[in-house]
Amino acid sequence: MRVTFRLNGEATVIEAEPRQSLADAVRAAGFTGTHHGCEHGVCGACTLRVDGVAVRGCLMLAVQAEGAEVVTVEGLDAPDLKAAFVRHNALQCGFCTPGMLMTAAELLESGHVPDRAEIRDHLSGSYCRCTGYQAIVDSVEEVAQARHGAKP
Ligand code: FES
Ligand code: FES
Repeated sequence: MRVTFRLNGEATVIEAEPRQSLADAVRAAGFTGTHHGCEHGVCGACTLRVDGVAVRGCLMLAVQAEGAEVVTVEGLDAPDLKAAFVRHNALQCGFCTPGMLMTAAELLESGHVPDRAEIRDHLSGSYCRCTGYQAIVDSVEEVAQARHGAKP
């Protein structure tokens, strides 16, 4: 089936099988930062943003993206967040990182400064097997405070 949508800001047309997931489709389009972990909606590695909302790319069909604005980690315009992950060593193997970044970006655009409990809650659908989460939460907290001029 023909699917027309915007992918990382570019008008995109793909041919997708009705059963093809959106995560598969964006990877086939060259955006391999979207990872497959569990493929059951559990791990969060496949998280994309569709019309500004973080969604599981493994649970959404490509055909459901017709007319949507889809953003992968490659198109995520959040250089401060990406830099904070590097600065805090919030990634080791990096497998979870795209999903973490996409989910955190959604929270950071919510217009307020989340506390650590809210950050943990928002990221709770993404599993990391490497960092113990502390550095990830540190990164998101720092960016939230910096964006709002809040004191640490
Ligand atoms: S691959 Fe989609 S949630 Fe794990
Ligand atoms: S950095 Fe390896 S799974 Fe999170």
